[in-house]
Amino acid sequence: MSIMVKPFIIGTRNSGDYLHGGAKVLREGGSALDAIEAATRLVEMNPNDTSVGLGGIPNILGVQEMDASMMCGKTMAAGTVGALKGFIHPISVARKVLDHAPHVILVGEGAELFARVMNCEEGDLSTDMSRKVYDTFVRDAFDHDEIDESQQWVVNYAKSQNLREWYDRLADEHHGTVNIMAMDENGDIASAVSTSGTALKFPGRLGDSPIIGAGNYCDNRYGAAACTGRGELAIRNSTARTIIHYMEDGLSVKEAAFRAMKDIHELKSFGGMNCIAMDAKGNTISATTNPDRESVYYYMDVDMKESEKRIGITVSE
Ligand code: GLY
Repeated sequence: MSIMVKPFIIGTRNSGDYLHGGAKVLREGGSALDAIEAATRLVEMNPNDTSVGLGGIPNILGVQEMDASMMCGKTMAAGTVGALKGFIHPISVARKVLDHAPHVILVGEGAELFARVMNCEEGDLSTDMSRKVYDTFVRDAFDHDEIDESQQWVVNYAKSQNLREWYDRLADEHHGTVNIMAMDENGDIASAVSTSGTALKFPGRLGDSPIIGAGNYCDNRYGAAACTGRGELAIRNSTARTIIHYMEDGLSVKEAAFRAMKDIHELKSFGGMNCIAMDAKGNTISATTNPDRESVYYYMDVDMKESEKRIGITVSE
């Protein structure tokens, strides 16, 4: 089979220093799935990224709950985990779901049981920084004697607040997530997403990252798309799948990403959304609804020594 496009990998702004891990896999003839898993694992180990893996800011109870997903464009197999606690590499648990589970999504205790059965690496993802952010939040929000084992304080807190206003404030300050996608020497594509979700989220909250079609979608015939930002918006619009659908209807990858970000504005909801996307020919783009922020993503092909910063499009209302 002739190689139409040089194998490459792209990722969100927090992945630039880590794409080399995936490019190495591609250079050695590995699959797009293996490449995106390798690169995402490196991002998950960055303790300074407070939105992914090690050092992710915990939920309102001080517990880190991770969401991750992988999708294979060749087979359209997918594996995702949600609200996963105590595993070092959520993306690799998602990969195990993709490869071995009869299901697509596993959450909470079930996901943890599955990860244990699959011998995924267990461990503590908290850091001094993530503990400090949580402790500061608790100190500012509660009287010390309110906090007890019964977790009644969280219930009291929820009752005393307008929860949506509270969440809007949080989501504006604390968001992140990594998206990585690649095309290998066979022209196969795959996409990965990993996140600790919105900082100080309500326990059990799933974002868009583990929802196939919302935060992640991949189809060899058309391309791949993945999202960062306020997950609730991408869930409501099925943003990743919609970008692919727009390409299927004949739009370019840039036009498709633009239109999907316009759709987010149509929700007239608080919070921003960002995406990265590629088509089946290897054209790539990123887009954001945030007018105050450049849309940055990183690109690296197998001949490059380091990743290249690229600027996508900012989509205003
Ligand atoms: N986009 C990540 C999240 O909302 O959890």
